[in-house]
Amino acid sequence: MKVNGVAYRTIWVNDDGWSVGIIDQTGQPHRFITTSLTTMEEAAHAIKAMIVRGAPLIGATGAYGLALAMRHDPSDAALARAYEVLVETRPTAINLRWALDRVRKALEPVVPKDRATAAYRLAAEICDEDVEVCSSIGNHGLGLIQAMHAEIGRSRPVNILTHCNAGWLACVDWGTALAPIYKAHDAGIPVHVWVDETRPRNQGASLTAWELASHGVPHTLIVDNAGGHLMQHGMVDFCIVGTDRTTRRGDVCNKIGTYLKALAAKDNGVPFYVALPSSTIDWTIADGVREIPIEERAESEVTVMSGKTAGGEIVSVRVAPDATRAANYGFDVTPARLVSGLITERGICPASEAGLVSLFPEHAL
Ligand code: MRU
Repeated sequence: MKVNGVAYRTIWVNDDGWSVGIIDQTGQPHRFITTSLTTMEEAAHAIKAMIVRGAPLIGATGAYGLALAMRHDPSDAALARAYEVLVETRPTAINLRWALDRVRKALEPVVPKDRATAAYRLAAEICDEDVEVCSSIGNHGLGLIQAMHAEIGRSRPVNILTHCNAGWLACVDWGTALAPIYKAHDAGIPVHVWVDETRPRNQGASLTAWELASHGVPHTLIVDNAGGHLMQHGMVDFCIVGTDRTTRRGDVCNKIGTYLKALAAKDNGVPFYVALPSSTIDWTIADGVREIPIEERAESEVTVMSGKTAGGEIVSVRVAPDATRAANYGFDVTPARLVSGLITERGICPASEAGLVSLFPEHAL
């Protein structure tokens, strides 16, 4: 996607041929900052501190983290250590483990002196694939938006609600939930996006709104609790969200608050779609509520907010009493029964084991 006319991916290898460029997403929406990762430890910190975030992007960053580790020390011990450090950074999104497993497995038989080159090649492959996959998700989701546009009689924009940021900043390019929206907008279909602010880190307000504004897509920011009201009043045609881990029976784990949107959508007959690359499917588990580890983050993400003052200064302020404790669960699980369909790179399927296996027969038991 373009930022001020310059095409960017969210992660790249710099001109020096080895350091890894990223967008520091803690700067948005007020500052567009790029920075470099030069060690595996810096890559791990970038994932943990959410300088990069979003399931596919943390997978890609993990892969480059292994490449940086191999550049420093290509031994078996260093490979094992780097894997352990990186995989611990964020527990919920399965893409991280998926990418690390893929790179580690490919590197193990390679002689140490060739490992760094092989790791960079694999990380680049993961990034290129992600771009293709997200573009394909966009094409499949575009069909849904076209159909909705035809159904509502072309008299008004198609109103889509999304939660968190599942746009290009969460991936390498395009995004998952936002890819169909970009494709529809580019095809001249009028779309309007309701953007949940997504407390506590405000990925909707700071990232999704920034992405949509940069691309010229009409959107409106809403507080997290507004979705149900909008749905009751016919103001949402459908919801599309991303996911950090999807089980083989189609339960989806996504940013905290997604489940409540799915419940409201069900109660109001609003279709609720989830867009995902197949790297987000954890084929080893079925019951998302019981089996997916839910990340718990720092209390300060809830009790302290940051923003820009009228004078242009970025400041942090505490919004809760000093003595108040906070709980900060990062994700929740939406059971498959609340999901109208899964939009994948191979097409759209019911949120069920049969549905997923019909698109990915290589995972049939
Ligand atoms: O905590 P984050 O910002 O990494 O969470 C991101 C999300 O929940 C996204 O919706 C999800 O990763 C899907 S992104 C394609």
